[in-house]
Amino acid sequence: MTAPILELRQLSRNFDGVRAVDNLNLQLFPGEIVGLIGPNGAGKTTLVNLISGFLQASSGSVIFNGEDITRVKPQRIARKGIARTFQIVQPFAQMSVLENVMAAAVFAGGSGFKQARECALAYLEFTNLADLKDRPASELALASRKRLELAKSLAMKPRILLLDEVNAGLNSSEIDGALKMIKKIADTGISIVVIEHLMRVVASLAQRVVVLHRGAILSQGPTQKVFEDRLVIEAYLGTRFAHKAQAGNP
Ligand SMILES: Nc1ncnc2c1ncn2[C@@H]1O[C@H](COP(=O)(O)OP(=O)(O)O)[C@@H](O)[C@H]1O
Ligand SMILES: [Mg+2]
Repeated sequence: MTAPILELRQLSRNFDGVRAVDNLNLQLFPGEIVGLIGPNGAGKTTLVNLISGFLQASSGSVIFNGEDITRVKPQRIARKGIARTFQIVQPFAQMSVLENVMAAAVFAGGSGFKQARECALAYLEFTNLADLKDRPASELALASRKRLELAKSLAMKPRILLLDEVNAGLNSSEIDGALKMIKKIADTGISIVVIEHLMRVVASLAQRVVVLHRGAILSQGPTQKVFEDRLVIEAYLGTRFAHKAQAGNP
């Protein structure tokens, strides 16, 4: 059996009495795409913050590649190989698109200026941003800014990529482009956790889905199976969510 690249053990995080993440156990395996879904406030972003070290766990542990990283600082976790995007995109606005990606490559370590530039150019090509490389990041439209987030994450040479609503606000053809890109990334062997409200996106990307509700796992399994479990989804997440799940079920 393959060892998990990431393992969450009885992970919890409280905020003044609110159990944002509640005794959660989860494993992520090399090269798989897992969809993380659940209503607003379910604890999805908190989970990403716990894994990437931006928030401290109240209890439990995060194991990356066999190593306990629960108390490790976010910068070190990023260098170890866990990259995350932010729900609210935050590039270095004054820097050019290329410089933003170079900064990520340099931060990840192990490369000088020339290598960082080459690496950044490759990822800009990959994310279809090469034409915009000399523009200030602040000038990019939303879809391009989201792609820049991806390019920056990839320049960190991650083994795990945590995508927090990276497709939010994109139109349908932009989403199709993003889907292709995320699939290409997974094909390189990077494990991906994709947080996403659009069920068609989850259905198209993820082999496995985890449904989070009030910080705990409500249901998990192969994507089609979980989406067919309409009663569970309806009972806990509301009929609107269930309809969306069905609509995304090809
Ligand atoms: N920094 C914080 N301080 C206090 N409460 C928080 C904080 N971050 C998240 N929460 C609470 O934790 C719960 C989960 O939030 P979040 O992880 O953002 O959910 P999701 O990303 O699934 O919408 C919510 O009740 C939210 O209000
Ligand atoms: Mg969120």
